[in-house]
Amino acid sequence: MDFALTLLRNSPSPLHQQLYEELRQAILGGRLLPGRRIPSTRQLAKSLGISRTTVTQTYDQLLSEGYIETVLGSGTFVCTQLPDDLLRSTPISSTEKMTRPPVKLSKYGDSLIQTKNVPRIPEPEMPINFRYGRPALEQFPIKLWRKLLSHYCCSDLQWLDYSRDILGYKPLREAISRYLCRSRAVNCEPDQVLIVNGTQQALDLIMRLFIEPDDVIAMEDPGYLSARLIFQTHGAKLLPISVDDSGLIVKDLANNSNEQIRLVYVTPSHQFPTGAILSLPRRLELLTWARQTGAFIIEDDYDSEYRYGDKPIPALQGLDRSDSVLYIGTFSKVLFPSLRIGYLVLPKSLISVFARGKWLSDRHLPLLEQQVLTDFIEEGHLERHIRKMRSLYDQRRQALVKALNVYFGDKATILGEKAGIHLMVRLHSPFSDQEIIQRAASHGIGMMSAGPHYLIPHSQGEFIFGYGELTQQQLMESICTIAQILFSPE
Ligand SMILES: Cc1ncc(COP(=O)(O)O)c(C=O)c1O
Repeated sequence: MDFALTLLRNSPSPLHQQLYEELRQAILGGRLLPGRRIPSTRQLAKSLGISRTTVTQTYDQLLSEGYIETVLGSGTFVCTQLPDDLLRSTPISSTEKMTRPPVKLSKYGDSLIQTKNVPRIPEPEMPINFRYGRPALEQFPIKLWRKLLSHYCCSDLQWLDYSRDILGYKPLREAISRYLCRSRAVNCEPDQVLIVNGTQQALDLIMRLFIEPDDVIAMEDPGYLSARLIFQTHGAKLLPISVDDSGLIVKDLANNSNEQIRLVYVTPSHQFPTGAILSLPRRLELLTWARQTGAFIIEDDYDSEYRYGDKPIPALQGLDRSDSVLYIGTFSKVLFPSLRIGYLVLPKSLISVFARGKWLSDRHLPLLEQQVLTDFIEEGHLERHIRKMRSLYDQRRQALVKALNVYFGDKATILGEKAGIHLMVRLHSPFSDQEIIQRAASHGIGMMSAGPHYLIPHSQGEFIFGYGELTQQQLMESICTIAQILFSPE
């Protein structure tokens, strides 16, 4: 009988032990069925090139444990009654699957299965891609980052252990709270800052701590698709609130007094995706409404560092006097998205419950990156990098606006303020969004329709142009190409 067994001569485990395991697994896994003859000790020793004593020792053990039996004058066989309870049922061959009752998932699990776009459909690889939210990664000061990383790798090895601080590395929380006070007028102490794995985890935690199925969350329409997907998969009922040039129309929230709104999600500094900025009267109106109704405001301040020409708009959180705001920030835009470090600034009364939820869910973020980021902020590199990038993105933004004006003229309407790293543009063309995307793709240009970000289906023709990672030349050339394929088709 040819029987493939793997024995490693330089393994620390003795040969007879390896042989025992291999044969036992072959029997358990159904490769050797009950009643099947197995080779004699002499044959097996010869075919494996090992001593007969080794094989005899192994067989003795299998015999004593009841895996095999000898029949005088006939040979050695796999026992028909196997010892392990597990095997009392019919053995299976390694290719045959055993059936089990259908999987019963939780409501959350079911909703994940039913939700489209989770995970996000990967964008097709294109030489030019207007995908939103991507910084110019090649500008990242990688040498400096590497230097900080190697400094921490070689010094105190405390970072290898579990963190002692369940809110996140304390010096990082201190650095972030100082940075937020100075640059975003956020009102907070370090102990209100919870370090999270990006905006996405902050939203997930908020859902788990606040939302029961069918609770109502109001959100900007159009609004950030990834936030909406989290809200929906947690079973929330979504209430779309329209957006105009001054951001969320707050009176529409108040007009829904019959709904018990638990949370409202807003991007006040740079509405995603329209680019509107929530006006001061509306900010005050929103805070008053939240205080009166007991709802919480989720402020997603994802790219407010980039405002061109004017001073950055202070965060809504800084105006809050009633602990109504859950403020979220991220390093995905100002540094790089795979860093997966963001922060949630919490009212003091909520710190403990959020810290517990975070700790139970994933303990904490890697300490090494938190230490490096702390130094990056404290040594002034973060703000220096932001200043440099602001000027670069401003040039790119101007190039995009110019290209749209030159090549589209009145066939394109640019929405939004001078901020962020994307523009929303209404294209007035005879084609559907899908046709525009396909035509652009056939010329190596990736375009993104704003359609999926609407809760209430909306007229076609709106596109998000992320320009952060494209050079001025790429922007000019690609907009020229898009205009040609839409208005002078071959
Ligand atoms: C509105 C909005 N919020 C937040 C983020 C960043 O998410 P994260 O911090 O999970 O990378 C993005 C990314 O594109 C975004 O568009």
